[in-house]
Amino acid sequence: MILIIYAHPWPQRSHANKRMIEHAGTLSGVEIRSLYELYPDFDIDIAAEQEALSRARLVIWQHPMQWYSVPPLMKLWIDKVLTHGWAYGHGGTALQGKSLLWAVTTGGGESHFALGDHPGFAVLGQPLQATALYCGMTWLPPFTTHHAFTCDDEVLSAQARHYQQRLLAWQEANHG
Ligand SMILES: Cc1cc2nc3c(=O)[nH]c(=O)nc-3n(C[C@H](O)[C@H](O)[C@H](O)COP(=O)(O)O)c2cc1C
Repeated sequence: MILIIYAHPWPQRSHANKRMIEHAGTLSGVEIRSLYELYPDFDIDIAAEQEALSRARLVIWQHPMQWYSVPPLMKLWIDKVLTHGWAYGHGGTALQGKSLLWAVTTGGGESHFALGDHPGFAVLGQPLQATALYCGMTWLPPFTTHHAFTCDDEVLSAQARHYQQRLLAWQEANHG
């Protein structure tokens, strides 16, 4: 099962992520948990999230980039759901062997991330990658969509189809 942990603060106003979610949602074996719709009060059901994670073989963290990072509910989800003794630490083996895909949309292009001495876009995934590795997960090459704010509908739809194909390819390679 593929589990998409989707964190968009305004899912109804989305252009890029909304299309990606629509395309991914047509596939069987894909579960989507839209955090801002499930938890508008930020009161995350940790047991439900861990139960969903335990059924998944591929976990996706999908969100629009906000201030070079994840939206606040995504960060809270990581802090609360990946608990000691479950995700890491003594007896914390629940996520070991699963794969993690970071699917991020950004308003800016490559030059937006190379301001001054900043090393660029590639380093921004490092805290998420370190988190995944610390929990024994395999970090897959991220699925990125730049210029998400200014792309026209055709480009965004094509990107959503690429996303769908990426998930299909993973399912075929991993027998579902
Ligand atoms: C509070 C906030 C912060 C943002 N910070 C960034 C940023 O640091 N870098 C960037 O490229 N885009 C940034 N954006 C733009 C969003 O990433 C972009 O609008 C989004 O990926 C578009 O996807 P959507 O159509 O699904 O909403 C920000 C947007 C908001 C609302």
